[in-house]
Order: sequence, then C-alpha cells, then structure tokens
Amino acid sequence: MPVTCDVVVLLSGTGSNLQALIDDAQNADNPVRIRAVISNRADAYGLQRARDAGIDTRTLDHKAFEGREAFDAALIELIDAFQPKLVVLAGFMRILSADFVRHYQGRLLNIHPSLLPKYKGLHTHQRALEAGDTEHGCSVHFVTEELDGGPLVVQAVIPVELHDSPQSLAQRVHTCEHQIYPMAVRWFAEGRLSLGEQGALLDGQLLATSGHLIRN
Ligand code: GAR
Repeated sequence: MPVTCDVVVLLSGTGSNLQALIDDAQNADNPVRIRAVISNRADAYGLQRARDAGIDTRTLDHKAFEGREAFDAALIELIDAFQPKLVVLAGFMRILSADFVRHYQGRLLNIHPSLLPKYKGLHTHQRALEAGDTEHGCSVHFVTEELDGGPLVVQAVIPVELHDSPQSLAQRVHTCEHQIYPMAVRWFAEGRLSLGEQGALLDGQLLATSGHLIRN
C-alpha cells in the first residue's frame, strides 16, 4: 500500500467532481484519502455524496461572517484540523482571499470549465459558443491569488459541434472534468506533481503553459 495523501475537498454544489474523486480513490493503488468535504452551503448535494461514502462533512456558512477575511480564517481553521496535504476545490464558488491562497500555496488545486486563460469566471460554455470557438474544454490548475489563474496542470480539449448548446457543451466538458481531476489529484498524491518557481512540475519536468494536454 502506498503512503496515503490526505485530501480535503471544498464544494458548493452538486459534487460530481467529488464523486469522480471518491470513485477513483477506491482503487487500491490510489494513495488519495479524502478526509473531509467542506461546503459553504448546507444544501449542497456534494455533502450527501460524501456522507454516502462515509466521509466526514462540515458546513461553514459564509453568510454568518462579517467579511471574506473572517470567513476564510475560519475555513482555514476547519480545514487544518484535518491536516491535509492537499486541498481540492471542486465547484467551490467563492473568491478566496490572498491570505487563504498563500496559506495553501503549492497544495491547492482547482478545476475550471474552460480552456484557461480563456473564460475565467462564469458562463464559460455560453461565452465559448458566442465567440465561435471551435474548441472548448476544462482546466486543472494550482491556485494563485488571481481568480481562475495559476499554473496549469492539465487541460482536456473537446471540439465544439455545430449544433452545440451551452447545456450540451457543459455535459461533455463535465465528462472531461471527471477524467482529468482524479488524474491530477492522483499525480499530486503520488508525489509526481508539484508547484515550482516557474510553474507546475510533473515528474520533475516543467509543464507547458497549457499544462498536460488531452484531446478527446
Ligand atoms: C464544475 O464544472 C467546475 O469546473 C466548476 O463548477 C462545477 C462544479 O460541478 N468550477 C468553477 O466554475 C470554478 N471557477 P460539480 O459540483 O458537479 O463538481
């Protein structure tokens, strides 16, 4: 059995990416151990997925705090009680304070539904269609202080079809997310992925600025 890597997952919604991580962690040779799932929303379905898998859950309602800094400080305390090696954002729809991001420097991953640096923020599928893009996809990246910024680890690219709607694109991108996020988290857990001064490193090699590319 490999040395385990304790992970805390933060989410705000459905948690299909969490489910993909839970499923992948079932593999005996996967060192990922999801210690806890934390949500800022008590009604997030992702919390139910965690409970069903026997994973500890916590809710920390951002509305109960005076401001971003106070919430993030409490969130750090909650996360650190589980002593994770890695913190994974899986649809955690909060902008994080600089202090939070610095605290988890090099051990904070995010997934975003676009080919970053394109379409940071919301409505990424709609925006890709409106721009007439022929390709779209999703990205896993180390989190830095820039919203949806930070060195890219892996991107999955899909073609945009003639009759795609934001919904059909979202569905195919989601499938790709479930492929690349467990892969990236596992790389980290296996000690293969790290954040260097120049960017993301995989097996000691600096990754290209687009990260590792997967074409579907
Ligand atoms: C995913 O599409 C993820 O890329 C996105 O939230 C969704 C969560 O889905 N994250 C962001 O937009 C972050 N900027 P899920 O709850 O089913 O995993």
